[in-house]
Amino acid sequence: MSGLFDSSTAPALPDLSGSVYVVTGANSGIGFEAAKKLAGAGGHVVLAVRDVVRGRATAAQLDGSTEVRELDLADLSSVRSFAAGWDGPITTLVNNAGIMMVAEGRTVDGFERQIGTNHLGHFALTNLLLPQISDRVVTISSGLHNGPQVDLDNLDLEGVYKPTRAYQQSKLANLLFTVELQRRLEEVGSPVRAHAAHPGYSATNLQSHHANPLMNRLMAISNRVVATSAEFGARPTVHAVVADLPGNSYVGPTGFQGLRGAPGPNPRSTQSRDADVARRLWELSEERTSVTWPL
Ligand SMILES: NC(=O)c1ccc[n+]([C@@H]2O[C@H](COP(=O)([O-])OP(=O)(O)OC[C@H]3O[C@@H](n4cnc5c(N)ncnc54)[C@H](OP(=O)(O)O)[C@@H]3O)[C@@H](O)[C@H]2O)c1
Repeated sequence: MSGLFDSSTAPALPDLSGSVYVVTGANSGIGFEAAKKLAGAGGHVVLAVRDVVRGRATAAQLDGSTEVRELDLADLSSVRSFAAGWDGPITTLVNNAGIMMVAEGRTVDGFERQIGTNHLGHFALTNLLLPQISDRVVTISSGLHNGPQVDLDNLDLEGVYKPTRAYQQSKLANLLFTVELQRRLEEVGSPVRAHAAHPGYSATNLQSHHANPLMNRLMAISNRVVATSAEFGARPTVHAVVADLPGNSYVGPTGFQGLRGAPGPNPRSTQSRDADVARRLWELSEERTSVTWPL
Protein backbone atom coordinates (compact mmCIF):
# COMPACT_ATOMS: atom_id res chain seq x y z
CA MET A 1 0.00 0.00 0.00
CA SER A 2 1.15 3.54 -0.59
CA GLY A 3 -0.06 7.13 -0.29
CA LEU A 4 -3.12 7.55 1.90
CA PHE A 5 -3.00 3.93 3.05
CA ASP A 6 0.76 4.03 3.58
CA SER A 7 1.81 1.31 6.00
CA SER A 8 4.25 3.82 7.49
CA THR A 9 1.24 5.31 9.32
CA ALA A 10 0.82 2.04 11.23
CA PRO A 11 2.01 2.60 14.79
CA ALA A 12 5.18 0.75 15.77
CA LEU A 13 4.43 -1.51 18.70
CA PRO A 14 6.69 -1.93 21.69
CA ASP A 15 7.39 -5.40 23.11
CA LEU A 16 4.10 -6.32 24.78
CA SER A 17 5.37 -9.44 26.55
CA GLY A 18 3.72 -9.88 29.93
CA SER A 19 0.64 -7.85 28.96
CA VAL A 20 -2.84 -9.35 28.75
CA TYR A 21 -5.46 -7.98 26.37
CA VAL A 22 -9.12 -8.94 26.28
CA VAL A 23 -10.55 -8.07 22.85
CA THR A 24 -14.30 -8.41 22.35
CA GLY A 25 -15.53 -9.37 18.89
CA ALA A 26 -12.08 -10.60 17.82
CA ASN A 27 -13.47 -13.10 15.30
CA SER A 28 -13.55 -10.62 12.44
CA GLY A 29 -12.77 -7.16 11.15
CA ILE A 30 -11.08 -4.63 13.38
CA GLY A 31 -11.10 -6.82 16.48
CA PHE A 32 -9.33 -9.59 14.58
CA GLU A 33 -6.70 -7.22 13.17
CA ALA A 34 -6.13 -5.58 16.56
CA ALA A 35 -5.76 -9.02 18.18
CA LYS A 36 -3.28 -9.98 15.48
CA LYS A 37 -1.15 -6.88 16.09
CA LEU A 38 -1.22 -7.22 19.90
CA ALA A 39 -0.42 -10.96 19.88
CA GLY A 40 2.22 -10.39 17.19
CA ALA A 41 3.99 -7.92 19.49
CA GLY A 42 4.14 -10.45 22.32
CA GLY A 43 0.95 -9.72 24.24
CA HIS A 44 -1.33 -12.50 25.44
CA VAL A 45 -4.69 -11.94 23.75
CA VAL A 46 -8.01 -13.28 24.98
CA LEU A 47 -10.40 -13.54 22.05
CA ALA A 48 -13.77 -12.80 23.68
CA VAL A 49 -16.21 -14.08 21.07
CA ARG A 50 -19.77 -15.32 20.85
CA ASP A 51 -18.85 -18.25 18.57
CA VAL A 52 -16.02 -20.20 20.18
CA VAL A 53 -15.75 -22.72 17.34
CA ARG A 54 -14.98 -19.89 14.94
CA GLY A 55 -12.86 -18.37 17.68
CA ARG A 56 -10.57 -21.40 17.73
CA ALA A 57 -10.19 -21.20 13.96
CA THR A 58 -9.41 -17.47 14.35
CA ALA A 59 -6.80 -18.16 17.04
CA ALA A 60 -5.16 -20.72 14.77
CA GLN A 61 -4.50 -17.91 12.26
CA LEU A 62 -2.68 -15.76 14.81
CA ASP A 63 0.98 -15.88 15.75
CA GLY A 64 1.67 -15.49 19.43
CA SER A 65 -0.14 -16.28 22.65
CA THR A 66 -3.94 -16.38 22.45
CA GLU A 67 -6.90 -18.04 24.07
CA VAL A 68 -10.59 -18.13 23.22
CA ARG A 69 -13.40 -17.44 25.66
CA GLU A 70 -17.13 -17.25 25.11
CA LEU A 71 -18.81 -13.87 25.44
CA ASP A 72 -22.21 -12.85 24.12
CA LEU A 73 -22.70 -9.17 24.84
CA ALA A 74 -26.39 -9.45 24.02
CA ASP A 75 -26.87 -11.70 27.07
CA LEU A 76 -25.92 -10.39 30.52
CA SER A 77 -25.68 -13.92 31.91
CA SER A 78 -22.94 -14.59 29.34
CA VAL A 79 -21.20 -11.34 30.33
CA ARG A 80 -21.35 -12.37 33.98
CA SER A 81 -20.05 -15.88 33.20
CA PHE A 82 -17.16 -14.45 31.21
CA ALA A 83 -16.18 -12.13 34.07
CA ALA A 84 -16.63 -14.81 36.73
CA GLY A 85 -14.43 -17.15 34.72
CA TRP A 86 -11.52 -14.74 34.57
CA ASP A 87 -9.49 -14.33 37.76
CA GLY A 88 -6.15 -13.14 36.37
CA PRO A 89 -4.84 -9.66 35.71
CA ILE A 90 -5.85 -7.78 32.56
CA THR A 91 -3.64 -5.04 31.18
CA THR A 92 -6.27 -3.60 28.82
CA LEU A 93 -9.85 -4.37 27.93
CA VAL A 94 -10.73 -3.55 24.32
CA ASN A 95 -14.48 -3.05 23.97
CA ASN A 96 -14.59 -3.59 20.22
CA ALA A 97 -17.55 -5.83 19.33
CA GLY A 98 -20.50 -4.21 17.67
CA ILE A 99 -23.47 -4.43 15.36
CA MET A 100 -24.67 -1.70 13.03
CA MET A 101 -28.07 -0.58 11.74
CA VAL A 102 -29.70 -3.97 12.22
CA ALA A 103 -33.48 -4.52 12.17
CA GLU A 104 -35.24 -3.71 15.42
CA GLY A 105 -34.81 -6.45 17.97
CA ARG A 106 -34.09 -7.17 21.61
CA THR A 107 -31.22 -8.69 23.53
CA VAL A 108 -31.87 -11.60 25.90
CA ASP A 109 -32.41 -9.04 28.68
CA GLY A 110 -34.89 -7.02 26.63
CA PHE A 111 -32.67 -4.11 25.58
CA GLU A 112 -32.83 -2.67 22.08
CA ARG A 113 -30.18 -4.71 20.26
CA GLN A 114 -27.70 -1.99 19.27
CA ILE A 115 -27.60 -0.14 22.60
CA GLY A 116 -27.74 -3.52 24.36
CA THR A 117 -24.78 -5.03 22.50
CA ASN A 118 -22.64 -2.00 21.76
CA HIS A 119 -23.07 -0.13 25.05
CA LEU A 120 -24.86 -2.00 27.86
CA GLY A 121 -23.02 -5.30 27.33
CA HIS A 122 -19.67 -3.51 27.38
CA PHE A 123 -20.77 -1.36 30.32
CA ALA A 124 -21.46 -4.48 32.38
CA LEU A 125 -18.31 -6.25 31.21
CA THR A 126 -16.08 -3.27 32.05
CA ASN A 127 -17.46 -2.83 35.56
CA LEU A 128 -17.24 -6.55 36.31
CA LEU A 129 -13.61 -6.75 35.12
CA LEU A 130 -12.39 -3.34 36.31
CA PRO A 131 -10.81 -4.51 39.59
CA GLN A 132 -8.49 -6.72 37.51
CA ILE A 133 -7.60 -4.10 34.85
CA SER A 134 -4.25 -2.36 35.39
CA ASP A 135 -3.71 -0.05 32.41
CA ARG A 136 -6.72 1.03 30.36
CA VAL A 137 -10.11 0.44 28.84
CA VAL A 138 -10.41 1.20 25.12
CA THR A 139 -13.91 1.40 23.68
CA ILE A 140 -14.55 1.55 19.94
CA SER A 141 -16.93 4.28 18.88
CA SER A 142 -17.52 5.71 15.41
CA GLY A 143 -17.56 8.94 13.46
CA LEU A 144 -21.30 8.21 13.25
CA HIS A 145 -21.62 9.04 16.96
CA ASN A 146 -22.21 12.59 15.73
CA GLY A 147 -26.00 12.86 15.93
CA PRO A 148 -28.77 13.66 18.39
CA GLN A 149 -28.13 13.16 22.11
CA VAL A 150 -28.87 9.74 23.65
CA ASP A 151 -32.51 9.39 24.66
CA LEU A 152 -32.29 8.88 28.41
CA ASP A 153 -36.09 8.64 28.67
CA ASN A 154 -36.37 6.02 25.93
CA LEU A 155 -32.99 4.31 25.55
CA ASP A 156 -34.64 1.44 23.65
CA LEU A 157 -36.16 3.90 21.16
CA GLU A 158 -39.49 2.18 21.74
CA GLY A 159 -41.96 3.29 19.08
CA VAL A 160 -39.40 5.50 17.30
CA TYR A 161 -36.78 2.92 16.29
CA LYS A 162 -34.70 3.66 13.21
CA PRO A 163 -31.61 1.53 12.44
CA THR A 164 -29.30 4.52 11.88
CA ARG A 165 -30.54 6.47 14.91
CA ALA A 166 -30.06 3.40 17.13
CA TYR A 167 -26.51 2.86 15.86
CA GLN A 168 -25.60 6.54 16.30
CA GLN A 169 -27.02 6.50 19.81
CA SER A 170 -25.04 3.39 20.76
CA LYS A 171 -21.78 4.83 19.42
CA LEU A 172 -22.44 8.13 21.22
CA ALA A 173 -23.06 6.07 24.36
CA ASN A 174 -19.58 4.52 23.89
CA LEU A 175 -18.04 8.00 24.10
CA LEU A 176 -20.20 9.18 27.01
CA PHE A 177 -19.30 5.96 28.82
CA THR A 178 -15.61 6.78 28.32
CA VAL A 179 -16.09 10.32 29.68
CA GLU A 180 -17.77 9.11 32.88
CA LEU A 181 -15.46 6.10 33.30
CA GLN A 182 -12.42 8.39 33.18
CA ARG A 183 -14.05 10.80 35.65
CA ARG A 184 -14.77 7.98 38.09
CA LEU A 185 -11.29 6.52 37.74
CA GLU A 186 -9.75 9.91 38.53
CA GLU A 187 -12.11 10.42 41.46
CA VAL A 188 -10.84 7.26 43.17
CA GLY A 189 -7.20 7.92 42.22
CA SER A 190 -6.98 4.93 39.89
CA PRO A 191 -4.07 4.84 37.43
CA VAL A 192 -6.34 3.11 34.87
CA ARG A 193 -7.30 5.28 31.90
CA ALA A 194 -10.37 5.22 29.67
CA HIS A 195 -9.95 5.92 25.97
CA ALA A 196 -12.10 5.63 22.89
CA ALA A 197 -11.10 5.02 19.29
CA HIS A 198 -12.70 4.78 15.88
CA PRO A 199 -11.43 3.21 12.66
CA GLY A 200 -12.70 5.73 10.12
CA TYR A 201 -14.44 3.58 7.54
CA SER A 202 -13.09 0.07 6.96
CA ALA A 203 -14.58 -2.79 4.96
CA THR A 204 -15.65 -5.46 7.46
CA ASN A 205 -18.66 -7.66 8.21
CA LEU A 206 -20.25 -4.70 9.99
CA GLN A 207 -21.78 -3.37 6.78
CA SER A 208 -23.61 -6.58 5.87
CA HIS A 209 -26.37 -6.74 8.51
CA HIS A 210 -28.42 -3.63 7.69
CA ALA A 211 -32.15 -3.84 8.27
CA ASN A 212 -32.65 -2.97 4.60
CA PRO A 213 -31.07 -5.56 2.23
CA LEU A 214 -30.63 -2.88 -0.45
CA MET A 215 -28.37 -0.96 1.92
CA ASN A 216 -26.19 -4.05 2.29
CA ARG A 217 -25.71 -4.13 -1.48
CA LEU A 218 -24.89 -0.41 -1.61
CA MET A 219 -22.47 -0.71 1.29
CA ALA A 220 -20.78 -3.70 -0.38
CA ILE A 221 -20.03 -1.41 -3.33
CA SER A 222 -18.79 1.45 -1.16
CA ASN A 223 -16.69 -1.06 0.82
CA ARG A 224 -14.83 -1.83 -2.38
CA VAL A 225 -14.56 1.76 -3.59
CA VAL A 226 -14.16 3.99 -0.53
CA ALA A 227 -13.36 1.95 2.56
CA THR A 228 -9.96 1.25 4.02
CA SER A 229 -8.92 -2.25 5.08
CA ALA A 230 -9.69 -3.72 8.49
CA GLU A 231 -5.95 -3.67 9.14
CA PHE A 232 -5.95 0.10 8.58
CA GLY A 233 -9.04 0.45 10.78
CA ALA A 234 -7.34 -1.40 13.64
CA ARG A 235 -4.48 1.09 13.82
CA PRO A 236 -6.36 3.67 15.96
CA THR A 237 -7.45 0.87 18.32
CA VAL A 238 -3.88 -0.28 18.78
CA HIS A 239 -2.66 3.30 19.14
CA ALA A 240 -5.21 3.84 21.92
CA VAL A 241 -3.98 0.63 23.56
CA VAL A 242 -0.25 1.38 23.54
CA ALA A 243 0.34 5.16 23.17
CA ASP A 244 0.85 7.42 26.15
CA LEU A 245 -2.34 9.49 26.03
CA PRO A 246 -4.24 11.64 28.52
CA GLY A 247 -7.33 9.96 29.94
CA ASN A 248 -10.52 10.20 27.86
CA SER A 249 -8.61 10.44 24.57
CA TYR A 250 -10.49 9.75 21.35
CA VAL A 251 -8.22 8.29 18.68
CA GLY A 252 -8.89 7.92 14.97
CA PRO A 253 -7.23 8.48 11.61
CA THR A 254 -5.97 12.08 11.59
CA GLY A 255 -6.20 12.74 7.84
CA PHE A 256 -9.10 13.59 5.51
CA GLN A 257 -12.28 13.77 7.66
CA GLY A 258 -11.00 11.14 10.10
CA LEU A 259 -10.89 8.53 7.34
CA ARG A 260 -7.25 8.42 6.28
CA GLY A 261 -3.77 8.87 7.69
CA ALA A 262 -1.91 8.09 10.89
CA PRO A 263 -3.86 7.50 14.11
CA GLY A 264 -4.01 10.30 16.64
CA PRO A 265 -6.43 12.44 18.68
CA ASN A 266 -9.68 13.15 16.83
CA PRO A 267 -12.42 15.74 17.34
CA ARG A 268 -15.74 14.62 18.77
CA SER A 269 -19.23 16.04 18.95
CA THR A 270 -20.39 18.46 21.65
CA GLN A 271 -22.99 15.89 22.74
CA SER A 272 -20.30 13.29 23.37
CA ARG A 273 -18.51 15.61 25.82
CA ASP A 274 -21.57 16.37 27.95
CA ALA A 275 -20.47 15.32 31.44
CA ASP A 276 -23.97 15.60 32.89
CA VAL A 277 -25.53 13.31 30.27
CA ALA A 278 -22.56 10.95 30.68
CA ARG A 279 -23.26 10.69 34.42
CA ARG A 280 -26.98 10.15 33.88
CA LEU A 281 -26.35 7.52 31.19
CA TRP A 282 -24.02 5.74 33.61
CA GLU A 283 -26.68 5.69 36.34
CA LEU A 284 -29.30 4.47 33.86
CA SER A 285 -26.90 1.76 32.63
CA GLU A 286 -26.34 0.62 36.22
CA GLU A 287 -30.12 0.39 36.67
CA ARG A 288 -30.65 -1.47 33.41
CA THR A 289 -27.83 -4.00 33.91
CA SER A 290 -27.80 -4.24 37.71
CA VAL A 291 -24.03 -3.92 37.49
CA THR A 292 -22.54 -1.14 39.60
CA TRP A 293 -19.27 0.76 39.95
CA PRO A 294 -16.81 -1.61 41.62
CA LEU A 295 -14.02 0.71 42.87
N1 LIG B 1 -15.86 -0.96 10.05
C1 LIG B 1 -16.08 0.34 10.17
O1 LIG B 1 -16.00 1.12 9.20
C2 LIG B 1 -16.40 0.90 11.49
C3 LIG B 1 -16.57 2.29 11.59
C4 LIG B 1 -16.81 2.85 12.83
C5 LIG B 1 -16.87 2.05 13.94
N2 LIG B 1 -16.72 0.70 13.84
C6 LIG B 1 -16.79 -0.12 15.06
O2 LIG B 1 -15.75 -1.06 15.06
C7 LIG B 1 -16.12 -2.16 15.88
C8 LIG B 1 -15.76 -3.46 15.17
O3 LIG B 1 -16.57 -3.60 14.03
P1 LIG B 1 -16.04 -4.20 12.65
O4 LIG B 1 -16.11 -3.15 11.66
O5 LIG B 1 -14.78 -4.93 12.87
O6 LIG B 1 -17.24 -5.22 12.30
P2 LIG B 1 -17.31 -6.81 12.30
O7 LIG B 1 -16.30 -7.38 11.39
O8 LIG B 1 -18.75 -7.13 12.06
O9 LIG B 1 -16.89 -7.18 13.78
C9 LIG B 1 -17.78 -7.03 14.87
C10 LIG B 1 -17.55 -8.15 15.84
O10 LIG B 1 -18.47 -7.99 16.93
C11 LIG B 1 -18.96 -9.26 17.24
N3 LIG B 1 -20.25 -9.23 17.91
C12 LIG B 1 -21.43 -8.79 17.42
N4 LIG B 1 -22.40 -9.00 18.31
C13 LIG B 1 -21.82 -9.59 19.39
C14 LIG B 1 -22.32 -10.07 20.61
N5 LIG B 1 -23.61 -10.02 20.94
N6 LIG B 1 -21.45 -10.60 21.50
C15 LIG B 1 -20.13 -10.69 21.19
N7 LIG B 1 -19.61 -10.28 20.02
C16 LIG B 1 -20.46 -9.74 19.13
C17 LIG B 1 -19.07 -9.98 15.91
O11 LIG B 1 -19.15 -11.37 16.15
P3 LIG B 1 -19.52 -12.42 14.96
O12 LIG B 1 -18.23 -12.55 14.19
O13 LIG B 1 -19.91 -13.63 15.72
O14 LIG B 1 -20.63 -11.79 14.18
C18 LIG B 1 -17.82 -9.52 15.21
O15 LIG B 1 -16.73 -10.37 15.48
C19 LIG B 1 -17.61 -1.99 16.16
O16 LIG B 1 -17.76 -1.50 17.47
C20 LIG B 1 -18.06 -0.95 15.17
O17 LIG B 1 -19.15 -0.18 15.62
C21 LIG B 1 -16.47 0.11 12.63
